[in-house]
Amino acid sequence: MTVIEWLVIIILSLLLAVICLIFGYQISFLIPMFHGPVFVPSADDKLATMLSLPKLTKRSKVIDLGSGDGKVLIALAEKFGLQGVGVEINGILVRRSRRNIARAGLTKKLTILKQSFWDIDLSQYDVVFFYGTSYVMRRLEKKVKKEMKKGSQFVSNYFQFPTLKPVKTVNDVRLYRL
Ligand SMILES: C[S@@+](CC[C@H](N)C(=O)[O-])C[C@H]1O[C@@H](n2cnc3c(N)ncnc32)[C@H](O)[C@@H]1O
Repeated sequence: MTVIEWLVIIILSLLLAVICLIFGYQISFLIPMFHGPVFVPSADDKLATMLSLPKLTKRSKVIDLGSGDGKVLIALAEKFGLQGVGVEINGILVRRSRRNIARAGLTKKLTILKQSFWDIDLSQYDVVFFYGTSYVMRRLEKKVKKEMKKGSQFVSNYFQFPTLKPVKTVNDVRLYRL
């Protein structure tokens, strides 16, 4: 190769490195796309419906699959005094939600796990909250049917399972009972 060709390769590589450095952080939110839904927080009116549909007691074990900035969990803890677990794959959102939880003074009640919800065993939870996307619902239904215990509840903001029928639908929020 000529010197000029080498120079072009070096300049292009440097350019690529700079682009990755500048935009790498911004596009990191795309990573979860390959595992599930991207981050959109539940709207306030949907959240109110999500909290109103399931039967909850002080001892209910709740989990939010893809917990985002912690909005659903924080509301559950503030409104019902519940302890809860959030599972979030995006490290930026894990940090943000832990910060939000700390600011709300709820660190003793709420735990955020940084991992994929596909790796979570749902059998120990009484109520599962989810705001996802259509293309994961078939796979998630199989997991829910296999793992969730009899009588437990699944609350889905908007998205429906292909075969399970919701026992209630209000404001496009669906409540399933296993
Ligand atoms: C639509 S947002 C819902 C956020 C929150 N639950 C709410 O209702 O406000 C979906 C979240 O799921 C997360 N997510 C996507 N795939 C995931 C996976 N496989 N495991 C854990 N979290 C995931 C995304 O990063 C995003 O924060």
